[in-house]
Amino acid sequence: MPNRTEELEQVAEQVRACTRCPLYKTATKGVPGEGPANADIMMIGEGPGFHEDQQGRPFVGAAGKFLDELLSHINLKRSDIFITNVVKHRPPNNRDPLPEEIEACRPWLDQQIELIQPKVIVTISRFAMARWFPNEKISAIHGKAKRAGNMMIVPMFHPAAALHNINLRPVLIEDFKKLPNYIEQAKKADAGASAAQPIPQPKDPPAEQLKMF
Ligand code: URA
Repeated sequence: MPNRTEELEQVAEQVRACTRCPLYKTATKGVPGEGPANADIMMIGEGPGFHEDQQGRPFVGAAGKFLDELLSHINLKRSDIFITNVVKHRPPNNRDPLPEEIEACRPWLDQQIELIQPKVIVTISRFAMARWFPNEKISAIHGKAKRAGNMMIVPMFHPAAALHNINLRPVLIEDFKKLPNYIEQAKKADAGASAAQPIPQPKDPPAEQLKMF
C-alpha cells in the first residue's frame, strides 16, 4: 500500500493532468502544492500567480518571500508546512477563481487535507476562508481560530496584501505568532478525543457458554 507521501504525489500527478475545469487551457503548469505529509500546518492560498504558473510551485513570488519571513518569526521554514491553493491552475491574468472552478478543484484540496490531517489550517485567501467562515469579514476574524473536527482553522490576511498595505505587516506577524499555541491546542484536543474513547471491554461470553454455568 502506498504511504501518505506517495499518495500525495499521486494526487499531485492527477492535478498536473487535471481538465475538470477550463483553467488548464490557459495555464502553463498545474500547481498542486507542496510540503511534508506529516505537516502540522497547512496553508491554503487563492491560486497560482504568474511565477507559480511558470514553475509549477506555490508561493514562489514576492508574497512567498514574505511568507518565509513570517514563518521565521515562529522558527519554521517553508519545508515544515504544506502549502497549496484553492485552485491549482492559474486563472487568466490572476482574476478571481469562479465558484465553478473552486468547486471543480475541491476534491483535490479535500484529498490533501484528508491525507495530511494537519493540526492547523491557515486560510490566506478569502476563497479558502469562505469554506469554513462563510459571510465573515477577514478584518473581524483574522488570527482567531475555530475548531473543525480535530483541526484548528485560522483565517489570516494574504501575505500579498501586506506588500501593498504596510500596516498589515505587524498584524500578520502577530497572527503568525499565535500558531504554535493553536497547534498545541489541536494536539491536546486530539489526545483528549483518544482518551475519551471507551476502553474496549472483554466481550460477554456467548450465550451458549453462559448456559454452561
Ligand atoms: N498567491 C496565492 O494565493 N497563491 C500562490 O500560490 C501565490 C500567490
